[in-house]
Amino acid sequence: MNSSDSILILDFGSQYTQLIARRIREMNVYSLIKPFDYPVDKIKSLNPKGIILSGGPMSVYDENSPRIEKEIFNIGIPLLGICYGLQLIALNFNGEVQPAENREYGKAEINFLSENSDLFKNVKNHSVVWMSHGDYVTRLPKGFSVTSETENSPVCSIENKKQKIYGVQFHPEVAHTKEGKKIISNFLFEICNVIPNWKPENFVEKSISEIMEIVGSEKVILALSGGVDSSVAALLLHKAIGDNLICVHVDNGLMRKGESLAIMKMFRDNYDLNISLVDASEIFLNRLKSVEDPEQKRKIIGETFIEVFEKEAAKYGDVKFLAQGTLYPDVIESVPVAGASVTIKSHHNVGGLPEKMNLKLIEPFRELFKDEVREIGEYLGLPHGFIARHPFPGPGLAVRILGEVTSERLKILRDADEIFIDELREFGVYEDIWQAFAVLLPLKTVGVMGDSRTYENVIALRGVTSTDGMTAEWYRFSYELLESVSNKIIRNVKGVNRVVLDISSKPPATIEWE
Ligand code: XMP
Repeated sequence: MNSSDSILILDFGSQYTQLIARRIREMNVYSLIKPFDYPVDKIKSLNPKGIILSGGPMSVYDENSPRIEKEIFNIGIPLLGICYGLQLIALNFNGEVQPAENREYGKAEINFLSENSDLFKNVKNHSVVWMSHGDYVTRLPKGFSVTSETENSPVCSIENKKQKIYGVQFHPEVAHTKEGKKIISNFLFEICNVIPNWKPENFVEKSISEIMEIVGSEKVILALSGGVDSSVAALLLHKAIGDNLICVHVDNGLMRKGESLAIMKMFRDNYDLNISLVDASEIFLNRLKSVEDPEQKRKIIGETFIEVFEKEAAKYGDVKFLAQGTLYPDVIESVPVAGASVTIKSHHNVGGLPEKMNLKLIEPFRELFKDEVREIGEYLGLPHGFIARHPFPGPGLAVRILGEVTSERLKILRDADEIFIDELREFGVYEDIWQAFAVLLPLKTVGVMGDSRTYENVIALRGVTSTDGMTAEWYRFSYELLESVSNKIIRNVKGVNRVVLDISSKPPATIEWE
């Protein structure tokens, strides 16, 4: 990949920062996110074609609000400030920013004040833009002109054409801003003159030669869970080093119905991968006996996985590398925002492995987003149906069985989940949903069957739309679908007499129930 044509995003803690990066990459331009205090000399050596200052949750007047080095405005790289970024530009050039009486949030109509702004080239006037701010620019910074207004923001966007510095009060990266993509594309191609060369085939070619160079004739081991990331990583590495890639699939007993066998079959038959199956379900289930606490479950699963994987790896003798499908969102240094508390779940499924086993890490997707990995998977020939599968958590069904995980309870959940997912496909909505699954609750309720009273399990249905799992909205299933799923589950899954629907968004709820 040619990283000389890149756009650097400096993150001031906005919830939309990753969205900016994705929008840019959708236009086949490489973008990367760094914390707001990334030093100017490092920026210079990165030599991006443009810099974007993201929005952020703070006011420029807050104590300890994030700032940037002044020099960044003088290095001759085009710059676009979004919301908080705009206000920083204003302050830097002796403008004035003041708190508004009311926070402006939501849709507004943009009105252009200039006919020849490069940022708004071919953008429709009076289109909807998305606002989310508490401060306004009240005095124009020196050398800048106002290029648009909205009803509540007299300074909606500014520019200094000569220095190529631009600022917008609204968020062009969110879908609600009707012409947002065009505005970002103008910044990239009209102002920064970027060449759009960030494409799956370029990425694949470059990674293959990098992997070959790093690995040489050594062996690489990879834990192939069957999820999109590890599967695509396996295919990429296989292309680079063939049978020196050893794939291990650990069946932890917490997979969905028939999943481990299907994964083995697919990769052995269609891709000729060097893959072995370790059936460790008994060990996992034994250790999970009587454990109800979700963090405890995760800990046991994580540790057991390492143990099983290590033992398997030892069989292959001299392995030097471990490959993982780590994605960009996992490695971006997040900006700590004052007041926000961060709770981190023990998410990383094979964390600790490389140090413990003394292996060097290969992470070909460290710079990619999930949808980019999907694109690469399709390019490498994985079937669309496989690529489009919903994400599945490392600890598997253990986070969807509340209370103790037993083989009886696993069977109930597997059967219910299979019916649910089959119905989603049947109704043609599976790919409209980001993630959907059934959950087995730790309680029983009364029902009636024929003349007798039953006292059985409750299944909850969860389905969400999301772009990255960070935030999520519950999916609006049709009543017909819900009715069909519920009837089929109650009729066919022994031990279930009630089905309920989860209608919580994230936050404040999470996607999994644990
Ligand atoms: P939550 O439940 O935190 O989940 O809203 C967000 C996304 O992360 C997935 N998830 C996991 N994935 N290992 C994983 O690989 C884990 O331990 C884990 N826990 C949650 C979850 O399925 C959702 O997509």
